[in-house]
Amino acid sequence: MSYNVEKIREHFPALKSGLAFFDGPGGSQVPTQVGAAIAAAITQPISNRSVTTLSERNAEEIVIGFRQAVADLINADAGGVVYGRSWTQITYDFSRTLAKTWKAGDEIIVTNLDHDSNIRPWVQAAEAMGVVVRWAKFDTTTGELPTSAISELLNEKTRLVAVTGAGNTLGTRPDIQEISQAVHKTKALLYVDGVHLTPHAVIDMQAMGADFFGFSFYKLFGPHCAAIAAKPELLKTLNNEKLLPSTSNVPERFEFGTLPYELMAGCTATIDYIANMVEGAGSRRERIINSMSAAEKYEETLFEYMESEIKAIPGVTLYGHAKKRTPTLYFNLKGVEAADVYKHLATVQVNAPAGNFYALEVSRALGLGDTGAVRAGLAPYSTTKDVDRLIAGLHQLAK
Ligand SMILES: Cc1ncc(COP(=O)(O)O)c(C=O)c1O
Repeated sequence: MSYNVEKIREHFPALKSGLAFFDGPGGSQVPTQVGAAIAAAITQPISNRSVTTLSERNAEEIVIGFRQAVADLINADAGGVVYGRSWTQITYDFSRTLAKTWKAGDEIIVTNLDHDSNIRPWVQAAEAMGVVVRWAKFDTTTGELPTSAISELLNEKTRLVAVTGAGNTLGTRPDIQEISQAVHKTKALLYVDGVHLTPHAVIDMQAMGADFFGFSFYKLFGPHCAAIAAKPELLKTLNNEKLLPSTSNVPERFEFGTLPYELMAGCTATIDYIANMVEGAGSRRERIINSMSAAEKYEETLFEYMESEIKAIPGVTLYGHAKKRTPTLYFNLKGVEAADVYKHLATVQVNAPAGNFYALEVSRALGLGDTGAVRAGLAPYSTTKDVDRLIAGLHQLAK
């Protein structure tokens, strides 16, 4: 069945507010089904330590269900799926763990297209270990991060390449598969931030060739938490800090303390929601592919319209126009502060915030300092009416 945006919108109570949400890249709205799953999990019998009761079974089933759902979403091995409070927390933890395998004089590569959470943890870990940080730079005119920007920095000393699946302001989607082929000619590991990409594409981390791939649920109709996946064999080689009595098993040893079962149940419901967003048949993975392909196509068409309308506004500067992009625009209006554009849009019931969105290096490279620009991102529930409201609001400000 075809993509029915109006039917999808009915599932999101927040959309009844009448606001046009263009802040999906900062966090999406949440469908009723996900809230209901969280409420159900937190009120049903549950315990993280009881011997034979239903409670323990519930908790364990939730954790197993979570790992399998994430595996289905990104084509990972469920045995290598790790829960985390946020992508930032996960990356800080893994940067410390991976840094233990580095020695002084080794090298790592980060990019200036990334959100700071996939830069600073690595830079700080490298500094602590005497490891050299090499910077792959995006083209500030096109917004592209060509594979060559990374491959020309690779050598036998490179231990890690941290790169985004999609830039959260410019939307640029580097060719991760091609980057992976270059990276894996060396001993380096490829660590991919999928936070901005996952809500907009079918993800297959195995086809991508990512050693690590992770994302945050709250950008994807889910609760405020994250997950990362890697092959269990790779995780077994890593010695992370952990409490003495806590398990050494993989992936559990990368998760600290008692897990938030209700959030994990919400994550599984999120992935089930995506699988059922468009009517289809087959396994959950097949239905996810069906839904996300339809959503991607829908967003692509709406994005073409949004971009052409914004380009026609006098005094607009659009940053980046990479060939492969998520439906996200980053722009400024001549003579108006980005923050004032945001405030004006709010008066016409449009939510399109301004800032650097923690893609600080992008903002600085574009000459926007730490202030950044306005960001308007589409979500699978965005409509032509939303876009028209955004465009009308911008025309009111254009000089
Ligand atoms: C591309 C990207 N990476 C990482 C993050 C940070 O994710 P979290 O809030 O889960 O730490 C964001 C959030 O805006 C993002 O857009």
